[in-house]
Amino acid sequence: MTTFPDGFLWGAATAGHQIEGNNVNSDWWARELTMPGMEPSGDACDSYHRYDEDIALLAEAGLASYRFSLEWSRIEPVPGRFSRAELAHYRRVIDACLTRGVTPVVTLQHFTTPQWFAERGGWLAPDASELFSRYVTETTTILDGVEWVVTMNEPNMQAAIMTAMRRMQQAAGGQWQSPTVEGDGEQQSHSEFLTYADPEIGRTFTAIHRAARDILRARTSAKVGWTIAAGALTAAPGGEEKLREIRYGKEDVYWEGSRGDDFVGVQAYSSQEVDAKGLVPHAPHPDNTLVGTAFRPDALAMAVSHAWETTLGVPVLVTENGIATADDTQRIRYTDEALRGLQAVMAEGIDVRGYLHWSLLDNFEWGHWEPTFGLIAVDRETFARTPKPSLAWLGEVARRNGVVEEVDA
Ligand code: FCB
Repeated sequence: MTTFPDGFLWGAATAGHQIEGNNVNSDWWARELTMPGMEPSGDACDSYHRYDEDIALLAEAGLASYRFSLEWSRIEPVPGRFSRAELAHYRRVIDACLTRGVTPVVTLQHFTTPQWFAERGGWLAPDASELFSRYVTETTTILDGVEWVVTMNEPNMQAAIMTAMRRMQQAAGGQWQSPTVEGDGEQQSHSEFLTYADPEIGRTFTAIHRAARDILRARTSAKVGWTIAAGALTAAPGGEEKLREIRYGKEDVYWEGSRGDDFVGVQAYSSQEVDAKGLVPHAPHPDNTLVGTAFRPDALAMAVSHAWETTLGVPVLVTENGIATADDTQRIRYTDEALRGLQAVMAEGIDVRGYLHWSLLDNFEWGHWEPTFGLIAVDRETFARTPKPSLAWLGEVARRNGVVEEVDA
């Protein structure tokens, strides 16, 4: 058996907008209704009401940690007006974890912002940090007993989206246009969409994160960090220079920004090559995932190693790792291999505190319902939850604190 250190956190992750339903005050809600090609989140998984059932299923399977997010647009639906009832709601979610012996990992901002915040310029508005800090300060009133707090989820992905939207709006004279794949329109061609993130945005996010971190450190006893989308990028021959350029704006500025944090959340799914022209598209393969990425469980170890190097040794919490697949056997195979790779880099001395699988539930994947990442299936009409074999499998790994030698799936 491949064992992990005592106290290693085993769990699963979700995010408010992807599971709660009816986040009508969020910028994503507005976006879903206007952007071509997007499906709406609607009722999502109705976890706003069914969180207790979700946490119970996780705990009964043997997992002992649950990552979820607070929805800023519910807590502060209009600027400066904080809802005591919504704060109390999220306190109940925290308590539902604690009473079951489940360690909550609380994300304060997972991609969504209030629509009013987006309308006045979002993260690039001059007072964005002040506004986020004011919200963060309010959230500290419900964080008693919470050990792990994530200020923001994947600011680097948020920056890549902001950079892409800016470019597309400039190209279309201010109009929103759906992203198009460049070249001959085939999956084979290079696409610029979400390839780049302006490093200046990264510096802005770092300052906002650090202001929030200071507030959390002053007012709570939680460990504080943020989570970063790790591309596990490698250079194809001749692509070394381009790799450095892409990875700096899209990742390294954020890994560097987490120096001084209590932990860094690593989120890895696949790996991709960079050549002189940019990101090399994933070649078609029967094992490719439902989001078109290559089956690369080794991406997790690669990402954790890169995080450890660039943060100069900030402890790692794997806050997301998983696969969009309709085949649960493939999910188990992926996770088994990812965990073996993780264990190998930990044996070399990298300090990893836990592993949170993405995702607990099949949920709203930012405009799409088809990519299923969940350990639990959700009926979107009845909201009935059906655990998949992978939930019991991961729960068993958690109970044994290790991956078993023979995978029987
Ligand atoms: C990450 C997001 C998460 C989910 C997974 C698949 O980038 O943080 O919300 O969408 O990807």
